[in-house]
Amino acid sequence: MGKDLTITLVPPHSLVLDVENLTVSRGGNVVVEDVNIQVKHGEFVGIVGPNGSGKTSLLMAILGILKFNKGSVKIYGAPNTQNKFKSRVAWVSQTAINMPSSSKITVRELISLGTVRLRNMIFPLDKKRIDRVERAIELVGLSDVADRNIAQLSGGQKQRAVIGKALASNADFLLLDEPLVGVDRESRNSLLKLLDDLCHDQNKTIVMVSHDLAAIKQTTHRIIYIDNSIQYDGTPSELPDLEVLAGLRGIKNVHGEVGEEGFRSTDLCCDEEE
Ligand SMILES: Nc1ncnc2c1ncn2[C@@H]1O[C@H](COP(=O)(O)OP(=O)(O)OP(=O)(O)O)[C@@H](O)[C@H]1O
Ligand SMILES: [Mg+2]
Repeated sequence: MGKDLTITLVPPHSLVLDVENLTVSRGGNVVVEDVNIQVKHGEFVGIVGPNGSGKTSLLMAILGILKFNKGSVKIYGAPNTQNKFKSRVAWVSQTAINMPSSSKITVRELISLGTVRLRNMIFPLDKKRIDRVERAIELVGLSDVADRNIAQLSGGQKQRAVIGKALASNADFLLLDEPLVGVDRESRNSLLKLLDDLCHDQNKTIVMVSHDLAAIKQTTHRIIYIDNSIQYDGTPSELPDLEVLAGLRGIKNVHGEVGEEGFRSTDLCCDEEE
């Protein structure tokens, strides 16, 4: 059994993320408006909302990839423009698993990339980084396929691999954008179990965007429903009915369908049998 090398230094304040009055524009339109979010150490927060409601833009602004017009973002108490805590944050993007089928990279090699920083691009990896990679492979349950080409993996295994890459970076704050897309039901459940374990056993703080409302309800401590601005932030059990949330946009749900704006309550998958 590999040694757990996870660093769990927690700054004196327990707020991992502090977003205040954040407003972001893209292509001349405001896509995130006046958003306030505080995430505490060890929380597992789910973000839901219709297509185009600003979820990815919000994550990108938090990460400092997208500039914002107004507001502030602090990670572990430091402005996200500073590099101070950047190594403690890992992002799994919405398109992370879309690798060309011609990719010639193994699972282990992909996960190793998680240990690479601009200031330590040294190969071969030293013992400490090799241990971190092996530990991450083990954590995401890919030991059996570690030397397999990434293109030969299933959707769920690819998701595990990109999460493994994030874990190898030693980050303790994970931002995941749609990690359940392209994952069948069985793999989805084991992926959710993995995220739950990472939060509870490995002390990770997780923010996960997903359209899979059943999964979000089942796994997270807290749900944020965003539609440019925040419409709900609270416990999964108190999340209003999706039709009520759709109503917040002034959309009437007629036979489950709506007009040109394209949002249906079914846009958020809610598998009630779960
Ligand atoms: N590169 C871009 N340039 C201009 N506008 C963009 C760009 N990317 C996204 N947008 C717009 O920003 C808005 C928010 O997009 P975003 O990708 O954040 O939504 P989302 O909630 O993540 O959607 P989805 O559920 O489909 O992933 C949308 O109206 C979208 O059209
Ligand atoms: Mg998105």
